Amino acid sequence: MNNNLYETVCGICPHFRQQPVEKVSRWADSYLSLPFISNKDYFRLHKDILTPTTFKVDVDQFTNEIEPYLQKFKHWGDKYWDQNRLGLPLVNITGELDEKNDPSTMPLDEHFSEYQTDIIYHDPDIKEKTEICDLPSLEVLEPLFPYLIRSSILWWDKGAGFSKHIDVFLPATNLRLWGTTKPIDCHFEGFEIPEIEPGRLYVIDTSKPHWGSALFDNTYQFFLSLQLEAFTVIEKNLLPS
Ligand SMILES: [Fe+2]
Repeated sequence: MNNNLYETVCGICPHFRQQPVEKVSRWADSYLSLPFISNKDYFRLHKDILTPTTFKVDVDQFTNEIEPYLQKFKHWGDKYWDQNRLGLPLVNITGELDEKNDPSTMPLDEHFSEYQTDIIYHDPDIKEKTEICDLPSLEVLEPLFPYLIRSSILWWDKGAGFSKHIDVFLPATNLRLWGTTKPIDCHFEGFEIPEIEPGRLYVIDTSKPHWGSALFDNTYQFFLSLQLEAFTVIEKNLLPS
């Protein structure tokens, strides 16, 4: 890995400097070998910060069906224990809900730093479905399931949230859909947010700095990453924003 690439990667993820250069090099090489989508195509889907889709989960039904799994939710990563944020995988490495050091229930850069040694994982490498995908309320997402990668259900209590960050760097190597069961105090730097409809899934432009927090206790969110092959399915299901 040349020095320019190392500096670019560590400029985006400064904590990677604490990792062995050889490991960061493997991360960069494998990341750069991922398929990506042109920015022109990316913005065909991301017509707005949040572009609504026809995919809509019945909030009451989902909330009832997820209740038996509450004990299976894990704290989101190993930092910020003051934040009441939990996650349950829709897909992970093994397809098991109790997967150890599950990359679907923590930031992926934290997983890289703390738990990855021989194998480097990027979102498209994490794709085994868990039983949560079988919930009847999520059957409406069936057309997306063949493309699902590193996705989860998040649970937040009032006030819990994420500070300003970016998830996807352009050109994008995956596509993101997001939805929530209750309104969220959600911000994108420099953009107005449209009214968010509970249960509705939105194509979300996480290449823009964004942050947010829950306005209510027991807020579930749908955090979906999708392979680029989902492009056509998503495009067919866009609603006017
Ligand atoms: Fe995000």
